[in-house]
Formats: sequence, structure tokens, C-alpha cells
Amino acid sequence: MFVERCRFAGLNGGSSVSDIEIQLITEADYEEVIEFEINNREFLRKTVPGRDDDLFYHPQKLRELFEKQLAANKTGERFSYLIRNCNGDLAGRCHLYDIMRGPRQKAEIGCHLSRCHAGHGIASKALRLLVREGFDTHRLHRIEASTLTTNVPAQMAVLRLGFQYVGRSEKYIWLNQEWRDCVHFAIVNPHWNRTNE
Ligand SMILES: CC(C)(COP(=O)(O)OP(=O)(O)OC[C@H]1O[C@@H](n2cnc3c(N)ncnc32)[C@H](O)[C@@H]1OP(=O)(O)O)[C@@H](O)C(=O)NCCC(=O)NCCS
Repeated sequence: MFVERCRFAGLNGGSSVSDIEIQLITEADYEEVIEFEINNREFLRKTVPGRDDDLFYHPQKLRELFEKQLAANKTGERFSYLIRNCNGDLAGRCHLYDIMRGPRQKAEIGCHLSRCHAGHGIASKALRLLVREGFDTHRLHRIEASTLTTNVPAQMAVLRLGFQYVGRSEKYIWLNQEWRDCVHFAIVNPHWNRTNE
């Protein structure tokens, strides 16, 4: 499905491996992102917070959220990326959020794919790029990931990248009208040093 011969031109604010690239969202991506979110609503609502809420999909709310994410990319409060396959199709979204600077220099990582792109190992590739962006471009020292205890593909994707299991929290996240248990993982940048600050 994904071919090695695909090559991507260098893009601002992003990186690529042979068949996947991630790039920071831009204003030009708005319509495509909204279509992606609406088309994958049923798939994502099982594991991604907020998707069980009709208000999330109100056109004005979608616009506001997108604008907040664009602004956050600029301030460094959060970094929101699109994941594209070698055909340029929007396969998913990934982000670094809850960024803390000062003595922590850390962020949480998140990723969601479209229903038809899930199950092909794309998340591992995209998250590998995102971790690299987090460490090299955004100079983070630590990246954390939290998933539902039941979300085995998400856990496998981060473990595959070298994330270590940190622990488990009961009733950690409000999803589909109930508090759900989560497991936590983290990876540390072995090359971080103060000159990175
Ligand atoms: C979770 C998600 C990002 C995973 O990405 P993906 O590219 O679909 O990942 P894959 O389906 O290739 O699975 C990743 C790994 O988990 C393994 N896996 C999948 N289901 C499994 C199961 N039930 N038991 C054991 N292993 C499983 C796969 O074999 C794969 O391992 P491998 O790479 O060593 O072969 C994607 O499915 C998604 O977007 N889901 C909806 C949104 C979501 O849940 N986001 C994460 C919120 S924390």
C-alpha cells in the first residue's frame, strides 16, 4: 500500500520518512481537517476525548479549535501536525500538547488516524517523526503518552518507539460519559543539554 519510492519535498515545520510525513497544520488545511474529523467521528469517539460531544462538531467550535491550534503552533504552547501518506492523503493527526518549559521541558504526545488508515503501522512511523521533532526542533527533554488501558494498538505504537511504562491511573480521563483508566509511558531525550534551552 505504501511504497518506498515515494519522496517528499522538504516542507516547512515537518519531517518525513520513506512513506509518511508530518507537517504543522496551516490555514490552508482547514477544510481537509474538518472533513477528516467529521468523517471519522464514530471511529474516534471510542478512544479520543471530546468526540462524543455534539458541541465539538458545531462548525463554529471546529473553527475556533482550529484557530487555537494554529495560534498555539506559533506560541509554542502546543504543536499540531498532520500525517500524510506518500499519496499526500491525510492519514491522521498527531500533536505535542500540555507543553511545560522551565525545569520540566516536557510534553504529552497524541495521535489519531482515520478509520481506513488505522492498522497499518502508520502511527509508529508518525510518532517516531514526532518524537524527533519534539527532541530536535522543540528541544524537549521528556515526552509522555497516556492511553486507555484497553487501547492496545496505541500502547504498542509507543512501546515500539522505546517509551517506558510509567504506571497506571484509575479513573483518569472522562470519555463517553464515564471516567476511564489509563496507562502512562514516557521517553527521555538522551542528547538533551542546557544549550538546547
Ligand atoms: C491507536 C492508533 C493511533 C494506533 O495506530 P495504528 O497505526 O493503527 O497502529 P497498528 O494498528 O499498526 O498497531 C500498532 C501495534 O499494535 C499491535 N496491535 C494492534 N491491536 C492489537 C491487539 N488487540 N493486541 C495486541 N497487539 C495489537 C499491532 O500489531 C502493532 O504492533 P506491531 O507494529 O509491532 O506490529 C490508531 O489505531 C488510531 O488512530 N486509533 C483511534 C484513535 C486513538 O485511539 N488514538 C490514540 C489515543 S491514546
